[in-house]
Amino acid sequence: MRRIGARLLSSSVFRLTLAYGFAFGASALALLTFVYVAAVEYMEQQARETIEADAQGLIEAHALGGVHGLVELVNLRSTYDPDRASVYLVVDRDGRHRAGRLASWPEEPPDERGFWRLQVREREGERPARQILARAIELDSGARLLVGRDIADKLHTQRLLQNAIVGGTGLMLLLGLFGGFALARWTIGRLEEINRTTSAIMAGHLGRRIAVEGGGDEFDELAQNLNAMLERIEQLVASMREVTDNIAHDLRTPLNRIRSRIEVALLHDIDRTEARELLEATMRDADALISTFNALLSIARAEAGARGQSFEPVDLAALARDVVELYEPLAEERAMELSVEAPRSAVVPANRQLLAQALANLVDNAIKYTPEGGRVRVRVNDGPEPLLSVTDNGPGIPPALREKALERFVRLEPHRSTPGNGLGLALVAAVAKLHEAKLELDDARPGLEVRLRFPPSARQASANALQSAGASG
Ligand SMILES: Nc1ncnc2c1ncn2[C@@H]1O[C@H](COP(=O)(O)OP(=O)(O)OP(=O)(O)O)[C@@H](O)[C@H]1O
Ligand SMILES: [Mg+2]
Repeated sequence: MRRIGARLLSSSVFRLTLAYGFAFGASALALLTFVYVAAVEYMEQQARETIEADAQGLIEAHALGGVHGLVELVNLRSTYDPDRASVYLVVDRDGRHRAGRLASWPEEPPDERGFWRLQVREREGERPARQILARAIELDSGARLLVGRDIADKLHTQRLLQNAIVGGTGLMLLLGLFGGFALARWTIGRLEEINRTTSAIMAGHLGRRIAVEGGGDEFDELAQNLNAMLERIEQLVASMREVTDNIAHDLRTPLNRIRSRIEVALLHDIDRTEARELLEATMRDADALISTFNALLSIARAEAGARGQSFEPVDLAALARDVVELYEPLAEERAMELSVEAPRSAVVPANRQLLAQALANLVDNAIKYTPEGGRVRVRVNDGPEPLLSVTDNGPGIPPALREKALERFVRLEPHRSTPGNGLGLALVAAVAKLHEAKLELDDARPGLEVRLRFPPSARQASANALQSAGASG
């Protein structure tokens, strides 16, 4: 419980709600105080006006009938005053009491407007004393007149207003405090859940996910985003682990071979020709190791690269012709027909080096896995969706294995005896992804057709790029 209390106090939501509550309370208090002061002022003003009006009548009576007339009217008004709200006093020039319920003239002087606030008792010992507002008037005859009104009801209203202000502000603060408490508790609860899960994940439970309540609020959105991120991280970690295992496995074989050859050379007396053969075999293994590393590096580069960076306008037609030319000797050696079918030019924004490598891998596969005397065709289409494809008439890849063949270090069963380490198509897939191109493996009946379909935006982008290059050049 104490822990929760401490957490609440350090919660920013709680502090924010509290601060808001205080600010709101303070402004409400200021507003209510203003209303109160205005209301009190208005009530006093009214009381003063009633007294003035009352006094006016009495002054006129004095003007007409002198002190005698005044005394008569005061007596009359005092008698016919059902709620006894009015208080009068008339004293003569010498200060003697002539009329009115008040016993004597007040000792303290009136305020600057000529008004008193008095506590009066009409009878000795009367309790509670009445609160009156009174006005003093000096008459020309030397007599003095005091006209007052009971203001008990006004004071009562004032007290009610005061209570309402104090109570209302207090209630508002209390509600703010409770609201902040409840809000902070709820927020802390949701955040705690996220914290618990992330701690568990940091402790190694990579499969844990944050619970989504389903209300679709910001916390759910945060949970969903975090979960999606965790999903991605988990995938990456898994594929990294797989790649590391594969690398360790694939590199061990050639390294072991290199080591045992060196051992043989050291242990036995070998002549020059034998030594030469051993060194040549060792060099082949070293080359294979180097090419594996290069392939892995290229894949890593393609995967890490961002679209646009290192991109330049690349002519697919020219690229296809170059790669085909490069592979012609190999095709000839295997008595294969290698052809290219491409328009004059088809420009897309691309990473030239990686795209050339991917195409070379596809042509290499087609020549490698198609039996002697087969046919390989490279095709470029310059439509709204530029297309690059390699088709052979070899054994092809069964549909169920096409997805698998794109993974790193995957070689399909029938081809285990041919050289290679299963990285060619993985690079093609990474390069396709970098170019946002669709990679499709299809049945060429017989054989395999691999297509790279560039996004429609590629045309527009390359046209713009060429245009700006032309403008600046
Ligand atoms: N044109 C094709 N016809 C039939 N099978 C293919 C073809 N291309 C690829 N494959 C199959 O897919 C597997 C993966 O190909 P990939 O290019 O990734 O690796 P690899 O050719 O074995 O080795 P590397 O390309 O790294 O030298 C190959 O081992 C092969 O079994
Ligand atoms: Mg290959």
